[in-house]
Amino acid sequence: MTEEKIKPVGAEELAKEFKEHSVAEFFKKNKQMLGLYGKVRTLTTVIHEYVSNSLDACEESNILPDIEVKIDELGSEYYEVTVKDNGPGLTEATVGKALGQLLAGTKFHRMMQMRGQQGIGSAGCTMLSQTTTGNPTKVITGTGKSKPISLKISIDPKHNSPKITDLKKIDKEFRGLAIQAKFKDVLYRDSEQGPLEYLRRTAIANPHAQIKFRDPEGKSYNFKRTLNKIPKPPKEVKPHPKGITVDELITLSKYTKSRNVNSFLKKDFDRMGNKGLEEVAKRTSFDLKKDPKQMSWHESEEIVKAFREIDFIAPTLDALSPIGEAQIKGSLESIVHPEFLTVNTRKPQVYAGGFPFQIEIAIAYGGNAGRQISSGEMRMEIMRFANRAPLLFDQGNCAITKAVHSVDWKRYGLRDLETAPLTILVNFISVHIPYTGAGKQAIADEDEVMEEVRLALMQSGRKTGMYISRKRKEKEKQMKREMFYKYIPEVAGALSRITKKNEEKLKNQLEKLVLEKLKLEEAKDAAEMEAEEVKNGSLDEQEKEETKENKKKSKKKKGAEE
Ligand SMILES: Nc1ncnc2c1ncn2[C@@H]1O[C@H](COP(=O)(O)OP(=O)(O)OP(=O)(O)O)[C@@H](O)[C@H]1O
Ligand SMILES: [Mg+2]
Repeated sequence: MTEEKIKPVGAEELAKEFKEHSVAEFFKKNKQMLGLYGKVRTLTTVIHEYVSNSLDACEESNILPDIEVKIDELGSEYYEVTVKDNGPGLTEATVGKALGQLLAGTKFHRMMQMRGQQGIGSAGCTMLSQTTTGNPTKVITGTGKSKPISLKISIDPKHNSPKITDLKKIDKEFRGLAIQAKFKDVLYRDSEQGPLEYLRRTAIANPHAQIKFRDPEGKSYNFKRTLNKIPKPPKEVKPHPKGITVDELITLSKYTKSRNVNSFLKKDFDRMGNKGLEEVAKRTSFDLKKDPKQMSWHESEEIVKAFREIDFIAPTLDALSPIGEAQIKGSLESIVHPEFLTVNTRKPQVYAGGFPFQIEIAIAYGGNAGRQISSGEMRMEIMRFANRAPLLFDQGNCAITKAVHSVDWKRYGLRDLETAPLTILVNFISVHIPYTGAGKQAIADEDEVMEEVRLALMQSGRKTGMYISRKRKEKEKQMKREMFYKYIPEVAGALSRITKKNEEKLKNQLEKLVLEKLKLEEAKDAAEMEAEEVKNGSLDEQEKEETKENKKKSKKKKGAEE
């Protein structure tokens, strides 16, 4: 056989193949990066993108959200999704870009606690609808200021730009946004990763929202509002110098209104005062009166290096808005009906030097806590949230799951965590969530994040452990009491026969004796529990040791990765 001769291809021939492509073409080909893969996952992700946008918009505009979600089955693996909200709506000028252009939105450049942050979610859905069904996405939007409009939006992938058709004014009153889009190759399932569970968890973390849902079989669900107070609107914070990279500094310098580097640093950064500026000036070799837009990569590098060396006050922490202990309690009690519940809102912390974050945690034990698997048995469940949005996928890759599995639960009386009747809820809130990917389903295991989630878990784990041990002791005491009382008549009878004393009197004396013994034991148990409660706030020696070990391990792992 003669070997086929392969002609080498030169740069000139390859140059003919050289083409530019838009971000829309890129994501059209790589939709898995947006979490749009797997039939069930894709449909849940679509619901997530629309619903989290509605909640974000309502929160920013100080509106109590009323959201209606409908999924209709149009054919085999073919569905229509409708999501309607009572938010601020979108103007005629922005609606096209918001839903028909990838990487466009109001959130990307702002450090703010929001569910969305990339400007890719809803336009990704528009793209998926058109590539699987050939249909545009139908939209009705009303801002309350002018007549509502209806329109159809699709994306021109080549230019990553919106195409709008059938734009009409409507004569009805409507404020908010209603989106209707069709999707093929997706599947509705009433499972742990399906839209219903997604909405159930959204309701738990957003008790101020009313969410109505109609599934493809026509079954209706109403997650009623249990809190009539709108959460504190998210506050925008400026980036903290410690969290900034050279590239980010250059990007920010292009957007600033300041005309010299000095005022750019002072106005656009958190905790930057005159003293900080003096320190930067001492450590840099160029004139800080220079136009920030003209700053070179090298100059930006000098500033970031100076930021690393200077001591700044920790970032502003009051921009975070937790769900709140009473609200989480109310939600879980009404949905999970647990036997025992502990909720803990930790103090805000900082990760990667510059990003404030806060952990809220709840552990529900017994009742309907945990989840039922197909065999009918119960399993422990972890409910993960990022800025109140449920995370249903990529569980193994998430800092929250990793932290749960790094805790020694045996210490808290939970010998087999996996089969325990337990719901562990963790809400991670931050002005910037360190997601592991554009699909926004897992939080990266930053050291500070892991540490803080572990501490929160250990604190709540100990309280749960105390309840479990109290329950066990109570049961033991009950058994002991029953046993004593069962044998008292027999013992009294035997004693009376031997001593010839009155049987009834002996019975009474024996009962008194047993009662005193049990009382003594109870007092001992109560003292032990009190001692345990006192040390409840702080870690015990073993927990401290474990925490140190964990830090060492994560350092080693990071070192190996680098
Ligand atoms: N229901 C809504 N009401 C008002 N504005 C909305 C609504 N949905 C989307 N928007 C606007 O459209 C923009 C784009 O939404 P999109 O979901 O694509 O990105 P995002 O929410 O900014 O970030 P992410 O990609 O993380 O979801 C939003 O930033 C917001 O300004
Ligand atoms: Mg979004």
